[in-house]
Amino acid sequence: MTDPRPPVPDVFDPRLYARGIPHDAYRELRDRHPVAWQEEYEVLGWPAGPGFWAVSRHSDVVRVLKDARRYSSFLGATQIRDPDPADLPFIRRMMLNQDPPAHGRLRRLVGRAFTPARTDRFAGAAEGRARELLTAARAAARDGDGTVDAVRAVTDEYALLNLTDLLGVPRSDRHLLLAWTERVIAYQDPDEPPVLGPDGTPVNPRSPAMLQEMFGYARDLAAHKRDHPGDDVITSLAHADLADGELEMFFFLLTVAGNDTVRSAAPGGLHVLATHPEEQRALRAGRYGPAGAVEELLRVHPPVLHFRRTAAEDHVLRGQRVRRGDKVVVLHASANHDERVFTDPHRLDLGRSPNPHVSFGDGPHVCLGAHFARLQLRILHEEVLRVWPPYEPAAPPRRLVSHFINGLKSLPLRFPG
Ligand code: HEM
Repeated sequence: MTDPRPPVPDVFDPRLYARGIPHDAYRELRDRHPVAWQEEYEVLGWPAGPGFWAVSRHSDVVRVLKDARRYSSFLGATQIRDPDPADLPFIRRMMLNQDPPAHGRLRRLVGRAFTPARTDRFAGAAEGRARELLTAARAAARDGDGTVDAVRAVTDEYALLNLTDLLGVPRSDRHLLLAWTERVIAYQDPDEPPVLGPDGTPVNPRSPAMLQEMFGYARDLAAHKRDHPGDDVITSLAHADLADGELEMFFFLLTVAGNDTVRSAAPGGLHVLATHPEEQRALRAGRYGPAGAVEELLRVHPPVLHFRRTAAEDHVLRGQRVRRGDKVVVLHASANHDERVFTDPHRLDLGRSPNPHVSFGDGPHVCLGAHFARLQLRILHEEVLRVWPPYEPAAPPRRLVSHFINGLKSLPLRFPG
């Protein structure tokens, strides 16, 4: 007997995402295979894995993210590729890879360092920085060939410097933050060739061996902050009641989670507006508030493409039997375009309300930096409206080869006016 159902499209291959989000495949998954088995074949030098369930509908994504008892972040951590079993205890020290109630203790500790009042104090610095970078980028375009790469000239530096302020990292060390986060996030991209182990296979960028340098830096920085406290997150953590290794893990988590996400959202939003001149004009004319516009840009261009959980028990999800130990992967960009929740989901509607996108996740692990991210993005777009005339694409962006981060490596823009 042949299977009467249409074949399940592949959404695992990291190379797919270098061409953009595979919206047709996601639609097919939502409509016909809402909980779909995905093969995890060998790709880009990375070994094959056992496969996983891809969850594509908004309501199921929310259900999985909210139910940490059934869908664990601890059992197999939160990346599709299984960590080396020897590394698992190490990776589980990070709160991202913990379940309640243990997760709650760390979340409260770092939450105290991360108050909206503290993040709001960086608004003035972010504003000045955005204005300076945008002005210089505009001048460089005028003096050059009329185009500017917004990633190189504005958004990479903007995100990095904002994060150094928040963490209390000296600005001159920002290239270190960039190198560490790229190693972890861009490991599937040909521009960031993997580090090979003695047996010739790539070394997991999240393994202890790969993180020694970053951890040493975090320890030195915390020691410095104990003697020279500042109004920053590492000062708070250096004085908090943390167990061995927890501060280093926080530093790692914040460096990666706070960096590539904004480095994706900032150029992603500019790209969306560059390719929607009508909406860009309406935003300039003040028809939409910048805060709501940022939410819609995050819906259309979610920086994070998936997170993984592991089933803690046998159960049925949307009619599909899922076994204990199976990997369950939620697809944020698919949920954000689910016709069951968003009217006309492929239309950019800068005034969309309500806008229950899941770009910051949901449930106990919902993004801790969402307030800081929103603040940075709102300020960037406000300053763009002040400093830049209308802008449009000068060439297609170069996208990151990754099924995890929806990254742009370059965004050539020009100012036709
Ligand atoms: C537009 C930018 C951002 C997006 C789209 C984003 C997205 C996310 C998502 C989807 C999660 C959930 C992970 C899960 O379900 O397992 C998350 C968690 C987290 N994010 Fe963000 N993030 C952004 C910016 C930031 C920033 C700027 C910071 C810090 C400076 C940050 C810190 C964190 C932390 C610490 C967690 C872990 C929370 C936990 O495990 O309880 N994020 N983020």
